[in-house]
Amino acid sequence: MDRVLITGATSGIGEAFSREYAARGADLVLVARSAEQLETLAGELMEKNGITVTTFPQDLSIPQSAERLVSSCHNAGLAIGTLVNNAGFGQTGPFVTGPRERYEEMIVLHNLSLMKLTSLLLPAMKRRQRGGILNVASITAFHGIPYNAVYAATKAFILSFSESLREELLGTGVHVTASCPGMTRTALFEKAGMNPDNTLLPVGLPEPVVKASIKALEKNRPYVVPGLLNKLIVHGGKFLPRSFMVRLAILLARNETHGTQATEIRQPH
Ligand SMILES: NC(=O)c1ccc[n+]([C@@H]2O[C@H](COP(=O)([O-])OP(=O)(O)OC[C@H]3O[C@@H](n4cnc5c(N)ncnc54)[C@H](OP(=O)(O)O)[C@@H]3O)[C@@H](O)[C@H]2O)c1
Repeated sequence: MDRVLITGATSGIGEAFSREYAARGADLVLVARSAEQLETLAGELMEKNGITVTTFPQDLSIPQSAERLVSSCHNAGLAIGTLVNNAGFGQTGPFVTGPRERYEEMIVLHNLSLMKLTSLLLPAMKRRQRGGILNVASITAFHGIPYNAVYAATKAFILSFSESLREELLGTGVHVTASCPGMTRTALFEKAGMNPDNTLLPVGLPEPVVKASIKALEKNRPYVVPGLLNKLIVHGGKFLPRSFMVRLAILLARNETHGTQATEIRQPH
């Protein structure tokens, strides 16, 4: 298999991608901020699978980090066959009082760095007439999610960008797929101060998400929504008014904090 570069490789869905591609015998380039966690995972995957794993600690929420990462790959002579743009984080709460700097980091990480990595690595894939770009969006890409306004908007960007790019690249040998998982049990929630068990949504595991995403990329599907219930929510939602789905999102993702904030924000001034 061609070499796979995975961002956000140290935890959750990205770690599951790393383990799955390693088990399939692909050499890996793993990226996240934590150098120590990257080293530990790389050591384990090399020993277990007999593959080569290179690690590049990088904070992709910094605007020029994508260029630095691709330069590091070039300097090390590492051609990338598949790019998995997975790194991301959650930030929940009312937008009006939200942390603007954090939103900026989110937009750089989820969108700017994803777009730049794609743009920098795509020309070589096209020349080789072979390659894959797997962009991790979310079920939240399909309509607005109150109290996750910036998060949902960045995921809508990823889905739209991936669909357009896939169409542009048809027949070139380069596949593009957006993966749109529903709620998945990872450290993302704890880091964002959320409890996934407070919601009415199904909570899945990273491994089935990864398997469904890789299969969809192999088939060059524009996007994949892993899990039957998530598919029902997304595809069923297409027959309902968007405004209804946005309201429903509050109910489905209900959580004590959201409830309080929703009440506060609707009180007349
Ligand atoms: N969990 C869900 O329910 C769910 C649902 C749909 C979509 N997703 C998406 O799936 C992707 C992975 O999320 P996850 O749930 O697996 O979360 P996670 O367990 O928190 O993993 C996030 C990964 O991204 C890395 N990362 C975070 N900020 C980074 C930065 N600035 N630069 C480079 N790497 C960074 C983290 O490593 P370091 O902290 O070491 O940098 C970690 O490896 C995200 O794009 C998320 O939006 C998650």
